[in-house]
Formats: sequence, C-alpha cells, structure tokens
Amino acid sequence: MKQNESLAREQRGWFEAIHRHPELGNEEFETAALVRQVLTAHGIRLLPCALPTGVVCEIGHGDGPVIGLRADMDALPIQEETDLPYRSEVPGCMHACGHDFHTAALMAAAILLHEAEDTLPGRVRLFFQPAEEITDGALQMIRTGLTDPAELMLSLHTYPFLEPGTVGIREGAVMAAVDQFKVTVTGRGAHAASPHLGLDPIPVLAEITLALQTLVSRRSDPFDQVLLSVTHLEAGNTWNVIPERGELEGTLRTLVPESRAATRERFHRVCRGISEAHGCACEITWMAGPPALYNDVRLCERAKAVAEGLGLRVERQPCSMGGEDFSEYLDAPRKRPGIFIRIGTGGPYASHHPRFTAAPEALFPASVLMAELAKSLLNNPLTGGANDAD
Ligand code: NI
Repeated sequence: MKQNESLAREQRGWFEAIHRHPELGNEEFETAALVRQVLTAHGIRLLPCALPTGVVCEIGHGDGPVIGLRADMDALPIQEETDLPYRSEVPGCMHACGHDFHTAALMAAAILLHEAEDTLPGRVRLFFQPAEEITDGALQMIRTGLTDPAELMLSLHTYPFLEPGTVGIREGAVMAAVDQFKVTVTGRGAHAASPHLGLDPIPVLAEITLALQTLVSRRSDPFDQVLLSVTHLEAGNTWNVIPERGELEGTLRTLVPESRAATRERFHRVCRGISEAHGCACEITWMAGPPALYNDVRLCERAKAVAEGLGLRVERQPCSMGGEDFSEYLDAPRKRPGIFIRIGTGGPYASHHPRFTAAPEALFPASVLMAELAKSLLNNPLTGGANDAD
C-alpha cells in the first residue's frame, strides 16, 4: 500500500508536468520522451516504435494472449482559462480533453503490471499514441504493425459528468463514425442588379443546406441514429456583387456502416442534383474519419465486475455522437473486441472547454482498474464469440 501511495504521488507529478507542457497532435515529442524516460527508469521494456511521437512498451513473457492498452497524448489549440497551479505554460495550447490524464493513467498501469510481471500468463502491450484529436494517430500506430498481436484493446477517457470514483461503461455503440464534408458550388459572378447575367451559387447552397436535413428526417430509419450538421456556409464578400462560388462544410455522424454508406451516397446525389438543376457546378470533398466505436458486451461485463471489485461505482452511459479514433484499433486491419471506459473526473466543464479540468484523485484508481482488467483478461480469457450488439 505504501508503495502505491508513492507511485500515486509520482503519477501526479507526471500528470501536472504533461498538463503544463501540452503538445498538439504529432508534436508530442516532450510528452513521449517523458513516458519513455519514466517507463525505462522502472525497468519496463520499450519496443522499437517507428513513430517519433508514439511509445510502445510490453510487459510479460511467453506465447500467451496479448492484451492491448491504449492512451492518447495530444492536446488542443485552446487557450487555458483555469486557475490550476499546474495550468498550461504554452500559449494557445491546452489539455482540454484529458489526454494528459490518459497518459499518466497508462504510465502507472504499466508500472503496476510490471510489478506483477512474473505472474502474468501472457503479455500486455501499452500504446501511447499521438494525434487523436486530428484523427490519424490511431492509424499511424496501427501502421507500425505493433498492434497486430493484440487480441483485445482497452482504453479509457476522462468524463466530466461523472464524479471521481465512478466509471461509465456501456455495451454496444458508444461513439459515432465521423465523416467530414465540403461542398463548393460554382456559378457565374454578376452585378447584384443583373442576376440573369450570372448564375448565383447562394440560393443553390441554401437549397442544398435545407435538402440535406431531409436525409436524416425523411430518409433514415428513426431508430437508427444519423446526424448531419452543416456548420460553415460562406459565399461572397459584399452587398452588390453576386459571387462566382460559395461553399459549405459540415459533418455526418452514424453508428451503422450501412447507414454511413447510404447517407453518403444520398448526400452526393442531393448536392449534385440541386447544383445541376440550377446550372451550377458542384465539387464535393469527403473526408472519412474513424468508424463507430462498439464496446464488446463480454468485456463490459468483465470491466464492470473488476471495477466493482475495486470499490468503484459503475454507471451505464448514453451513447455519444462524438468521434474517437480508438475505434480504428477495433475495426481494421482485423476486427478485435475492445472496450472504451469513461472515468469520472468531475466537472463542471465539458471537454474541449477552456476551463476543463480532470480531478487528479481519479488518476490512480483508473490505473489500477486498467491493470486489474488486463490481468483478469489474461488469467481468465473471454469465451464465446464477439458480441457487440447494442
Ligand atoms: Ni479525448
């Protein structure tokens, strides 16, 4: 217990240091260096990793099953407005999504697992990935090939709407697939007083914006969550000129791959059809982000039992239409079961808010939970087929 107290104290130091020095996606050089330094100092085996801003370590020996644990390390381009004694020292950059917490939580989990290394009937690989907020960090980590042996993947996220001591676990869909779109409509510029000599893209963009709403309200099964937001609409720069072109941007969020594909297809048809009807050209840029995140039912049951065994309170959580690139590990190149656990870190501010805080007292229990869950899964592997139905 004494040992744990000193580890928890050491952990707060890492958490505060990372919070003070946030780094944006793919720039996590100092954070990764700290992780490497601490893990090495504790005698933990680092695996050679091709990512300069990623760290991978392995604990355990032999040919038993391999469990993957993942944390993300990047910060956000937000000016911090908290009055924490360890607030960000980097102007315009802040850990407003708790990735400093995730990193410190996994570092201590690695040390706890390392203390039990000789008793593990398999291996645990811990992945500290870059660039979750810009959604390609998981793919970068997967491309290193280091995640290939992992049969299961576990991850955690701070959650301000649950108190410390509580964890949120939900089986089935927990986060949505994220698509980003940009549509450029090109007509012909003209004097505002002579619209008939031009081709005005503005009413076309307005019509497209409204018609896109019906993809959700009229074309999607009401029991299947589909969300479409047009968030940026821009055309022209003055009052008496009809512009040549205008554009809109936004996002599509879905839970089911079939709805994702069908809505994307209808989206293209609506944009092209309306533009063509008005004689305008239409160019669509579609950027597909991570797939929906599904928690394996068996893993949820196990995590709940382990958490309750540790004296944590477990609450079932609603699904979110936010995105999370942890889903990439569960999707490709091969499907594998996984779980994404919400750790109650207290509020009142939501993540990505300049006053977001994560209660440090939730840190060590999160590490113990991840380490104990990994041990439990090595000692008693899941049985039966993957089941991620909601
Ligand atoms: Ni996050």
